[in-house]
Amino acid sequence: DHGDSNAGNLRVKLVLLGDSGVGKSCIVLRFVRGQFDPTSKVTVGASFLTQTIALQDSTTVKFEIWDTAGQERYAALAPLYYRGAAIAVVELQKHGSPDIVLALVGNKADLQDKREVSVQNGNEYAEKNGMFFIETSAKTADNINQLFEVV
Ligand code: GTP
Ligand code: MG
Repeated sequence: DHGDSNAGNLRVKLVLLGDSGVGKSCIVLRFVRGQFDPTSKVTVGASFLTQTIALQDSTTVKFEIWDTAGQERYAALAPLYYRGAAIAVVELQKHGSPDIVLALVGNKADLQDKREVSVQNGNEYAEKNGMFFIETSAKTADNINQLFEVV
């Protein structure tokens, strides 16, 4: 129910925000191209990609994805990308649209031995802040499509 509707087709603006190195670009690459790049370079400014998926009722959803740069020096740019976004991650309560969908993503779920946040803490934080919580791995593709289906 988010995004602009047009003859059974939806357009959804989605923005990924988060610290540098957490895997935002890898999540997008996995979702859009089905690939994983272990030598992924830091994003400069932001990059824009689209991916269209078909739902069971043959409606299509076109994701317009802004993959932002997590490095501190780009922090001031973030509002340019999340303005008008339908889906985003944390810290947007003050600035996003009131009906924005927030997904809190715990990526690199394949690295279980290096886990820093328990599933329970992730879930509790998300619930307190009105967000979906999902753990993904851009490397193994685990839950990547499910992440984009939370809309
Ligand atoms: P910025 O562009 O600087 O904001 O970083 P980013 O969040 O886009 O990080 P990026 O996607 O470039 O990934 C950073 C590093 O983490 C790369 O070396 C990736 O190969 C690695 N990485 C990303 N996702 C995963 C994952 O799910 N599992 C593992 N094991 N490594 C991952
Ligand atoms: Mg990046």
